[in-house]
Amino acid sequence: MFHWLEKNPFFFAVGVFLVIAFAGLIEILPNFAEASRPVVGLKPYTVLELAGKEVYKKDNCIACHSQLIRPFKSETDRYGQYSLSGEYAYDRPFLWGSKRTGPDLHRVGNYRSTDWHENHMWDPKSVVPQSIMPAYKHMFTNLADIDTAYAEALTVKKVFNTPYDAPNGTKLGTLDEGRAGALEEAKAIAADMKNQEVKDAVAAGKIPEIVALIAYLNRLK
Ligand code: HEC
Repeated sequence: MFHWLEKNPFFFAVGVFLVIAFAGLIEILPNFAEASRPVVGLKPYTVLELAGKEVYKKDNCIACHSQLIRPFKSETDRYGQYSLSGEYAYDRPFLWGSKRTGPDLHRVGNYRSTDWHENHMWDPKSVVPQSIMPAYKHMFTNLADIDTAYAEALTVKKVFNTPYDAPNGTKLGTLDEGRAGALEEAKAIAADMKNQEVKDAVAAGKIPEIVALIAYLNRLK
């Protein structure tokens, strides 16, 4: 029945292409409908963490740091468990990066602490003498944009069904509750810091960028 097709190389090639393309589509299409699947126990970012993530983007940490541990022994020995796609389910956008002038930061929360970050961001050479990372002193006075972070959380909740306010999940609530929650979290971080201006600001209800950034870095585990 298809002898004519076998004798006609051009139409045969077109036929082969159509069959393979169709099979390919059948395999690929369902994945588009699939929601990203968070790893078990993953919680959406808190408002303060989101504000810190904004600082990370704004100050272009991604230019020198990746957040993606590859499945090689050299990497898992240094950084820990390699990264899984489900860990980025609430990252919009993800901050994988492609340049490692500095080390990967995807699990930095496991081995660096609030006071270490405080010293390091103020003056990297004070903790790592050979460091070429720039200092970020302005973060100790610039204030974090909590309201925008709240709006971002509310948006991903509405648009992408990110599970805020779920039982045992991250609380979001109203704008006032979001602000209050961020301040409470900021107080816990400022308690582990030594910079008096930062402590005073938080006590007065303001949140410097460094506090939000540290909340974000501590969460990377
Ligand atoms: C010009 C490149 C560069 C930029 C930009 C940069 N870093 Fe770094 N970073 C480095 C280098 C190099 C190191 C390794 C030396 C050190 O620890 O200071 C490092 C180390 C670090 C570490 C310690 C990681 C570890 O495993 O010890 C953290 C945390 C960090 N950077 C956070 C940041 C954050 C947050 C920003 C953005 C505000 C940033 N860096 C921007 C180059 C950079």
